[in-house]
Amino acid sequence: MMRTPLIAGNWKMHKTIADAVGFVNDLVPRVADIVHTDVLIAPTFVALRDVVRRAEGTRILVAAQDVAAERIEGAFTGEVSAEMIREAGATHVIIGHSERRQYYGETDESVHRKVNAALAAGLEPIVCVGELLDERDEGRAETVVQRQLERAFEGLTASDLSRTICAYEPVWAIGTGRSATPETAEEMHRFIRDNVARIAGTDVAETMRILYGGSAKPDNVLELLSRPDIDGALVGGASLQINLFHKLIEIQESLIKDTDKK
Ligand code: 13P
Repeated sequence: MMRTPLIAGNWKMHKTIADAVGFVNDLVPRVADIVHTDVLIAPTFVALRDVVRRAEGTRILVAAQDVAAERIEGAFTGEVSAEMIREAGATHVIIGHSERRQYYGETDESVHRKVNAALAAGLEPIVCVGELLDERDEGRAETVVQRQLERAFEGLTASDLSRTICAYEPVWAIGTGRSATPETAEEMHRFIRDNVARIAGTDVAETMRILYGGSAKPDNVLELLSRPDIDGALVGGASLQINLFHKLIEIQESLIKDTDKK
């Protein structure tokens, strides 16, 4: 089953509007000949609309970094609804990033509500899961990821899940320079796919893109992306620099071209 790989940049709380648009200006010509790989950028909310405008008609998709759990507009100071994100022109939204879980009280329950809100508004959620270092050391990585997946995806139909992307981001690998080994990552990606198969059937599991996130860089990404269940990367630090981000896209693209030749 062919899944279109995706290289996604999560800019977190980086870049002014001007910097964000400047980056996309530089990226557009560099992805002009990319045909096998989807490319996505998640800027801050304030830059979303401008980045969407600049990316229109190109291969670059745009995501928000979070979404309100509430579906209907109302008295929720500081929140942005899925409808509003959609109206701004984004097609995707990152949900349940570990930084939101660690610093802003995101729970499996709020992730679940946000995934539903996103899907209802026609956004494709990028659902992040991943264990802490302690949890891995204690041999609980799979249990934790399984719980996160089951709660996030509870009650979703096969059609909902076919519009959902998953990102495995082991917390100990994020921003630390210490990425998961390709073996460790592949093992967890396989585990995630098996779980999705159990929840929604093998067809959905085989089409779901599962991205790896955590210190992905040009010098370690080839081995990760070569694994059968790793369908791309969700990139933090290396997505902020155009040369590094472009390199990641090129590496992914060359892998698919090589497969085509076989
Ligand atoms: P780094 O690539 O900086 O480790 O961040 C990964 C991440 O959190 C992407 O969402």
